[in-house]
Amino acid sequence: MTTLEKQPRGRVLIVDDEKVILDLTAIILKNRGYQVFTALSAQDGLAAIEKERPELVLLDYMMPNMDGLTALKEIRRRYPETYVIMFTGKGSEEIAVELMKAGASDYILKPFNNQDMVERIESVLKLRAVELQNRALLSERERLLAEIADWNRELEARVQEKSEALGRAQVEIVQSEKLATLGYLSAGMAHEIRNPLNSIALFVQLIKSGLDESERLDYVEKILKEVDRIDSILGKLLDASKRPRFEISEVQVDRILQNTLEAFTPQLKQKRIKVVTDLRRIPPAIKADPLEIEQIFTNLFLNSIHVMAEDGTLGVQLDQDDCYINLKVSDTGPGIPPENLPNIFDPFFTTNSRGTGLGLSVVLRIVKTYKGKIEVEKSDSSGTTFSVRLPLVTPKC
Ligand SMILES: Nc1ncnc2c1ncn2[C@@H]1O[C@H](COP(=O)(O)OP(=O)(O)OP(=O)(O)O)[C@@H](O)[C@H]1O
Ligand SMILES: [Mg+2]
Repeated sequence: MTTLEKQPRGRVLIVDDEKVILDLTAIILKNRGYQVFTALSAQDGLAAIEKERPELVLLDYMMPNMDGLTALKEIRRRYPETYVIMFTGKGSEEIAVELMKAGASDYILKPFNNQDMVERIESVLKLRAVELQNRALLSERERLLAEIADWNRELEARVQEKSEALGRAQVEIVQSEKLATLGYLSAGMAHEIRNPLNSIALFVQLIKSGLDESERLDYVEKILKEVDRIDSILGKLLDASKRPRFEISEVQVDRILQNTLEAFTPQLKQKRIKVVTDLRRIPPAIKADPLEIEQIFTNLFLNSIHVMAEDGTLGVQLDQDDCYINLKVSDTGPGIPPENLPNIFDPFFTTNSRGTGLGLSVVLRIVKTYKGKIEVEKSDSSGTTFSVRLPLVTPKC
């Protein structure tokens, strides 16, 4: 025999005030392998349950003092894992229904058939095992759900923590980028300003060395020119750095374009440059600082006019799609050498002996401020086209 087979089939308590029935039932069940406890009254029965914790109670309905129904309710309330089968007299089916409602798992009519009783006990014990297992599974499920909820909370807290760390890191990166740009700008600026300063120092030396009046005036003139140059470099630098206060208003880009073109008339005439404007669609107003939008045009026009020989063509195209106002400025200049393309938007990058290399960096800064885009759409020996896109106030994309 294995240990498993030695295990009792179940622990059963029989509660009946008729000693004969009690003993008889006990013998039958013991013979079938159950571990049996007995009690002659409901009170004794409750005490036995408390002590022995049987899986099943066979409980007589008709008992003095505490009746079977009261005992049944008490057992079910205090020991939900103890199942109950009731003994009732024949002809009391209505009572049986009431007992089932009160929590009995089954009922057996007296006098009973031994085999029938054992079968009922078996099936109630099986039902009990399944139900208890279900209950255990449900509570395990609850436990797991609570654990998952805990994990989720922890995960959320960690995500929150990481996001904050990321936010801090981002601020640090932005700051260090700003510092890097500042360093870069200072280096470029120092270079730009040192040249005119050297010239000024040289002219002063010459003046000091004793010159006649007209030469002296000539050098003073040159010094003033160099001072102007430093002043213009500083002016451009201030434009390049973000202006703290924008004058935001409703801006009609096509109007600013026309006004800027008009302002360029003398230079255009002087170089006999033809202007071809192509206003495909008049875009709706955008919210912007008009001076900044003007500066986009000015700096692009200045570059184009500068690189073109006489009789060139300055093309300006204005259009709109679902997301952007599209602006194109083209010229018939010599084009940008491909090796310079990665650098043209860098502050102080210039191939122009009188330029400071800030024009396009200002344009880039402004375009970025409005979350727009700028690119060299085309550049070859027939000319260059810059494309600028500024987001619409109510984009449809
Ligand atoms: N339309 C163009 N055609 C050819 N090259 C261009 C054109 N626009 C810009 N570039 C090139 O890009 C460089 C940088 O332009 P950017 O406007 O930033 O500076 P700059 O014109 O040299 O000086 P600044 O604008 O400060 O007077 C120019 O020196 C030139 O080499
Ligand atoms: Mg320029």
